[in-house]
Amino acid sequence: MDFPITDIRKDFPVLEQKIYGKPLVYFDNGATTQKPSVVIDAVADFYRTTNANIHRGTHFLSDKSTGLYEEARKKVQQYINAEHSEEIIFTKGTTDSINLVASSFGQLLEEGDEVIISQMEHHSNIVPWQFLRDRKGIVLKVIPLTDDFQLDIEAFRKLFTERTKLVSVMHVSNSLGTINPIKKIINFAHIKKVPVLIDAAQSIQHVPIDVKALDIDFLAFSGHKIYAENGIGVLYGKKELLAKMPPYQGGGDMIKNVTIEKTTFADLPLKFEAGTNNYPAAISLGKALEYLEKIGLNNISCYEGKLTDYAIEKLSKIEGVKIYATSQPNKTSVVSFNVEGLHPYDIGTMLDKYGIAVRTGNHCTQPLMTALGITGTVRASFSFYNTFDEIDYFCESLEKVIKMLK
Ligand code: ALA
Repeated sequence: MDFPITDIRKDFPVLEQKIYGKPLVYFDNGATTQKPSVVIDAVADFYRTTNANIHRGTHFLSDKSTGLYEEARKKVQQYINAEHSEEIIFTKGTTDSINLVASSFGQLLEEGDEVIISQMEHHSNIVPWQFLRDRKGIVLKVIPLTDDFQLDIEAFRKLFTERTKLVSVMHVSNSLGTINPIKKIINFAHIKKVPVLIDAAQSIQHVPIDVKALDIDFLAFSGHKIYAENGIGVLYGKKELLAKMPPYQGGGDMIKNVTIEKTTFADLPLKFEAGTNNYPAAISLGKALEYLEKIGLNNISCYEGKLTDYAIEKLSKIEGVKIYATSQPNKTSVVSFNVEGLHPYDIGTMLDKYGIAVRTGNHCTQPLMTALGITGTVRASFSFYNTFDEIDYFCESLEKVIKMLK
C-alpha cells in the first residue's frame, strides 16, 4: 500500500501556510514536530469542556480531568510496552526526565562512583551528570566515537569498573540521526549489573521501542517531538528502581502526609510528580500516540527512510556539500551537512527566504562537533508529513543559495 501522504498532510494545518510567499517546507522536525488537528482539537475541546486540576477535587470536572490524565499515562504505558502504568512518570520533557534521574538516582551514588555517557550526547545528557559530579564527586566516563562517528562499543566495554553505577546514552543522535546499538549496550551493562538510561528524544517518534523486549531501565522522551503539545515529557523507570529512588521535587500531589516535622511520600508515580503537572499536554500526548498508531510506526519508519535516502542521494550530487554519517547502517530521518567555504548559519538564513525551515549550529552537541572537527552543521530533519517534492525544492533552493553566497 502506498503511504497516504496527501491525506496525512491535510491533518497538519500549519503546513498549508506560505512563508515569504513560498509554501512552507518544514524540515526542523528534530527540534519540534508540528501538531495534527486531532491533537489541536483535543486540547481546545479539553479547555472548552473539562479543564479542572487533577487528583485534587471531588467535583465532576476534576474527576474527568484526572481520568483523562491517567488514561494518557496508560496510553504511554501501552505504547512503550511497560509492565505497570506507575512506571510512567510525567515530566516537562526529556531534559527534565534526565535531570530527575541524575538528581534522584544520583542521591544513591557515592563519591568515586561512575556514570558512563558518550561523546555524542545532547547537552541534556551531559550537564545534569556534571552537576552530580560537582555535587557528589562521581566520575564521568565517556564512550568515544569510531572513525565513522558511531559509538565505539569495544571502548565502551573497557570503561566498566566495580564502581560503574549507570550508563546513560542517546538512542538516536539528534545531530546525525545515527541509531545506536542500544540492545548491545544494555546487554553488556546488565552482565555487569548496571542499569541503563536511554534518551529516546530522537527515536520515540521514528522507531518502535519496547522497554520490556529491550530490558530498558530508564527511558526519557518529550511529547513535543512526537506530535503532542510542548511542556510534557515521560520518564519510564523500572518499578524496583523508581521505588528505591527518593523524590526529585517536593510539593503538592507527591505526599501522603505532611506535618511540620516530617513528610511521607505518595506511591509511584505521584512520588515524582510534585505540583500541578501539565495535564492538558499529557492528554495531548495520549491523542498523538493514538494518531501515530493509526498510521503505524513501521509505515512511518519505512516512508521516512525513503525520504532520507532520497535526500542523501540528491544532496551528495551538489558540489561542495559534505554530509555527515551517511555510511551508518542504521539512521533515522536526519541529514546533517556543510557546504565547503560557507557558514551553516548563512545557509539556514538564506533557505528560510525560500520558506524552508532547517536547524543550524551545534544542535546542543558541542562535544560531538568537537569530535567532528567543526562548529556546526545545517540539519534537515524529516517527518512522515514531508514529501519527495519538498526535497527536490530544498535541493534546488540550496543550489541557488550556494551560488548567491559564493
Ligand atoms: N534537541 C532539539 C534538537 O535537536 C532541540 O533540535
